[in-house]
Amino acid sequence: MATPTKLYALCFLLLAFLFSFFNSLRLDKGKFYPPEKHASLFIFGDSYFDAGNNNYINTTTGFQANFGPYGESFFKYSTGRGSDGRIIPDFIAEYAKLPLITPYLHPGYHSYIDGANFASGGAGALVETLQGFVIDLKTQLSFFKNLASLFRKKMGDAETKTFLGRAVYLINIGGNDYAIPFMTTNSSLLQSTYQQELVDMVIGNLTTVIKEIYKEGGRKFGFLNLPPLGCVPSLRALKAGNTGACHEEITALAKLHNEAFPKVLQKLQRQLNGFRYSIADAYTAFSERIDNPSKYGFKEGKIACCGSGPYRGILSCGGKRSVKEYELCENASDHVFFDSCHLSERANQQVAEQMWSGTSNITAPYNLKALFEL
Ligand SMILES: *[C@@H]1O[C@H](CO)[C@@H](O)[C@H](O)[C@H]1NC(C)=O
Ligand SMILES: *[C@@H]1O[C@H](CO)[C@@H](O)[C@H](O)[C@H]1NC(C)=O
Ligand SMILES: *[C@@H]1O[C@H](CO)[C@@H](O)[C@H](O)[C@H]1NC(C)=O
Ligand SMILES: *[C@@H]1O[C@H](CO)[C@@H](O)[C@H](O)[C@H]1NC(C)=O
Ligand SMILES: *[C@@H]1O[C@H](CO)[C@@H](O)[C@H](O)[C@H]1NC(C)=O
Repeated sequence: MATPTKLYALCFLLLAFLFSFFNSLRLDKGKFYPPEKHASLFIFGDSYFDAGNNNYINTTTGFQANFGPYGESFFKYSTGRGSDGRIIPDFIAEYAKLPLITPYLHPGYHSYIDGANFASGGAGALVETLQGFVIDLKTQLSFFKNLASLFRKKMGDAETKTFLGRAVYLINIGGNDYAIPFMTTNSSLLQSTYQQELVDMVIGNLTTVIKEIYKEGGRKFGFLNLPPLGCVPSLRALKAGNTGACHEEITALAKLHNEAFPKVLQKLQRQLNGFRYSIADAYTAFSERIDNPSKYGFKEGKIACCGSGPYRGILSCGGKRSVKEYELCENASDHVFFDSCHLSERANQQVAEQMWSGTSNITAPYNLKALFEL
């Protein structure tokens, strides 16, 4: 006969079993039934937002960052993020009390209730930008549409509409569309008549993607405008004669983009019922830090932490790309730029803070905190 102690033990085991059984049901349900008011985060764009999708595509190390010293400051191993640590969407997720948002292509990732990251290093709004090496914005959109139909299958149309309507959609794209032509082809292609055409095409394609996300139920969108592209170490180094000046021809495209895009967003807000957006001024944020690094706690605003050549502007960080030699600074937090194209974790955090809680002269008409709370 069972002694009382044994019975207690059995009961306890049974309770523990039942508890874990129901708990697992709840969790299983939780996969597709988010808690009330849960605002998830969907992320689109280029390497500023890529948390590792390019680890899973057939590309070259030029568009990957899954080797040291990438990731060293925070993760202690490389994740595919183009920084020494976290990138902008990681901080936004943290501020929104979400876990880090996993790359959509990560093979072990199946619960999308907190969102998904579709961004791809090197990607552009134009399919032609680094075609074959990256996941262009249109393909990122098709991944999102697959996910939306999965949600509809699992939780029904009405629930999905509410769920996708509460989510925030972060998009950062365009820099590669403008910079890559200067790096790969004859830049006299980029005569002034062609410049406005290029900007219109990039913004046209971006606008199409925004409208498609809206059609699926997306309502809240977060953007950065473009930084002074020609002042990024790789493009500063590309400037003929190496005078140390920024590459103004490339920055001019960013400026054209930054004039046109906010007007499109205002128009979308008038056209699309319930459409709300936030755009943060990355142009000013980058310029201020590049020009006055010490004001923001940095020691160096122009030279990258990791790379080689002038300004460490050659994308050789980690020695896994075509150039094998590289220099690495002592403390990445001292630098605005971690490698020749990308911000250090510390700079990413500062930009993320501006997106999250920036005042209306920097982030408008909403900041992300307000968008999440809508
Ligand atoms: C990967 O890309 C290379 C070059 O673009 C190509 O030769 C190769 O067949 C591709 N591999 C796969 C598995 O698709
Ligand atoms: C670039 O194109 C222009 C106009 O077609 C031509 O005159 C020039 O020689 C080209 N430069 C290079 C480096 O190919
Ligand atoms: C998107 O870009 C492609 C070129 O990549 C262009 O052919 C197409 O017309 C663009 N679409 C819009 C809506 O601008
Ligand atoms: C790197 O610099 C940051 C900011 O100045 C400082 O907080 C941190 O302790 C430094 N890290 C190391 C390892 O020295
Ligand atoms: C924005 O306004 C705040 C005060 O509200 C000010 O401290 C800050 O310098 C301004 N930033 C810019 C970029 O104008």
